[in-house]
Amino acid sequence: MKAVIPAAGFGTRFLPLTKAQPKEMLPVVNKPTIQWVVEEAVDAGITDIAIITGEHKQSIEDHFKPTKKLESTLENLGKFEELEKIRKLNDIANLEFIIQKEQKGLGHAILCAEEFVGDCPFAVLLGDTICVGNPNCTKGLVDLFTEKQASIFSVEEVTLEETKRYGIVSGEKVGEGIMLVKDLVEKPNPEDAPSLLGIQGRYVFKSDIFTHLKMTNSGSGGEIQLTDAMNSLSKVQQIYSWTFNGKRYDIGTMKDWFQSHIELSFESEFSQVLKEVIKKL
Ligand code: UTP
Repeated sequence: MKAVIPAAGFGTRFLPLTKAQPKEMLPVVNKPTIQWVVEEAVDAGITDIAIITGEHKQSIEDHFKPTKKLESTLENLGKFEELEKIRKLNDIANLEFIIQKEQKGLGHAILCAEEFVGDCPFAVLLGDTICVGNPNCTKGLVDLFTEKQASIFSVEEVTLEETKRYGIVSGEKVGEGIMLVKDLVEKPNPEDAPSLLGIQGRYVFKSDIFTHLKMTNSGSGGEIQLTDAMNSLSKVQQIYSWTFNGKRYDIGTMKDWFQSHIELSFESEFSQVLKEVIKKL
């Protein structure tokens, strides 16, 4: 299976922070968000990965590119631990970088990977979203895809006030945390929301999704919405949702960015440093 990581958006909600700094490059603990996302795909057993990026986001590609000068400097200085970290990153996966020339939405970003994906099923991981848990969210979806042989995506319970920020799904429960999806609505007002299950940013699709993305009309702002294409797919073939019980952080919001940094630092080798900082507040 291959994976596609859309990371080409302008990040307008996070300006001025994202003017020259892609939100996918914002640090969480000691690495950029996009590295967390690539590692999740790799831990799920996926090594062929396309990152959809933009001309304004060269630093994403640079992060994974070999840096000969830095490597030889580290070698000469005898900094072998650091050297190993950098070299591991160079070989993390077979990465391909695809430029989305115009920011026409998430659906359009995924369409940019059609040739890369071909006819295979593929995972999609939003480049600005970190998921942690056991099982790893993408791994959980890949396993369920293998079992069901149908497109599947992760959801989480949101509050009534939050439905306006999510794609919301409804359907028929067919297993523990698994639903056969009947309807998907993009960012409904609370009174129109068919449930409180919000789409999270991890998916495994059959390649048929491309046909539905191409049929989807661009909405307001000229964007092609992935949720609309998924809704169209759900009318002709089975598509499932799975409630992920781990944690999900949308790094495009200040709250989740802070929270991810603090919570994940507590679980890292830096927990002691963080505790000392907090004690002094
Ligand atoms: P978002 O809608 O959260 O990101 O898309 P955005 O468009 O960058 O943010 P705002 O709304 O302007 O603040 C989720 C993911 O999809 C990518 C984003 O980079 C992000 O990782 N995306 C979004 C694309 O790759 N292309 C697009 O045209 C839009």
